[in-house]
Amino acid sequence: MSNNKNLYPRLTSLANSLPSSVPFVAPEMTERLSGIPVIARLGANESSFGPSPKVKKIIAESTSDVFKYGDPDAFDLKKELEKHLQIPSQNIIVGEGIDGLMGILCRLMLEEGDTVVTSNGAYPTFNYQVKGVGGVLETVPYLADYEDPNALIAKAKLLNAKMIYLANPDNPMGTHHSAEVIQRMIDSVPKESLLVLDEAYIELAPDGVAPKLDVLNKNVIRLRTFSKAYGLAGARVGYAIGHVDLVKSFDKIRNHFGVNTIGQKAALAALKDQKYISQVRNSIELGRERINQIARENGLKTIASSTNFVAVDCGLDGDFTRKVLAELVGMGIFVRMAFVAPQDRCLRVSVGIPEDIEHFAKAFPRALEKARNQ
Ligand SMILES: Cc1ncc(COP(=O)(O)O)c(C=O)c1O
Repeated sequence: MSNNKNLYPRLTSLANSLPSSVPFVAPEMTERLSGIPVIARLGANESSFGPSPKVKKIIAESTSDVFKYGDPDAFDLKKELEKHLQIPSQNIIVGEGIDGLMGILCRLMLEEGDTVVTSNGAYPTFNYQVKGVGGVLETVPYLADYEDPNALIAKAKLLNAKMIYLANPDNPMGTHHSAEVIQRMIDSVPKESLLVLDEAYIELAPDGVAPKLDVLNKNVIRLRTFSKAYGLAGARVGYAIGHVDLVKSFDKIRNHFGVNTIGQKAALAALKDQKYISQVRNSIELGRERINQIARENGLKTIASSTNFVAVDCGLDGDFTRKVLAELVGMGIFVRMAFVAPQDRCLRVSVGIPEDIEHFAKAFPRALEKARNQ
């Protein structure tokens, strides 16, 4: 019950207790606040290679359909996903990106005070969604720049956690575990818990990193997106794969018209154009190599990445990386950094188009020098 009778608007006591924060400050917001135009957009792990030409064509041809609400069942897209993933469409729910699906999942699963286990410094939007429904976050540390499946499971067992979150590959470090490691984790999830396996970057990881899909397992939900490899972050389309009971329960509370008409068509066309995804994977590999090279030229190391970003180890602590970040942002280079020590020694640079990476290459030595001289 709300205890804020005298306050207006009459938010719930939970909402009143939450900080007014967003998990990520957008580059547009930074631009508005600083007045400095962004010349290289390398901070949000978008794919600045964009969607395939075929997808762009479909988007252009679909503009006159924008008056229509999107199909609430995303029927055609789910049928294509069914083919692509070789699982029944009843085990797939389409939503407004992984972030949107996470929000619904938290509302479905968590009551105030329920425990959720994640890694300290892992993807923060999940934490934001958990806290938004009053869940209690418990964390385990990274193990040498990797999320630690064994520690997550042990903590979940200890605390009788309702959910366990792991991203494979991980953001912000870009590291991945093999399918065997993740399968072992899946096999050891306590039966009272749900493993939320975030596979936002799975199309960019080496082949074989995703364990086999098992839609009969009630203890796992897998989240995927068209925002990364498919280059459709602004279209807001993602999907979850899980047991039919869990997938069906999304219908109870989801925003049925949340996934827009053009987004659905674009995602479907993107899925059909796997040749383009191979090209994107190649371009991203080259971009990762270039970022590794830039780091080396500046006497720094990088963390081996299986994603469309690279964590550049700035060699000192989080305070130093924050200074480097501020200098880069001041030069119009939008990048981000890891959130928590000791990973916050790393700057996170998305693999953008070569032109943007070259802007970074130019600015980085100056930013490092300025930060060192502060
Ligand atoms: C691990 C992870 N999960 C989810 C997302 C967001 O995905 P979507 O755009 O589908 O909401 C991101 C985006 O950076 C991410 O890094």
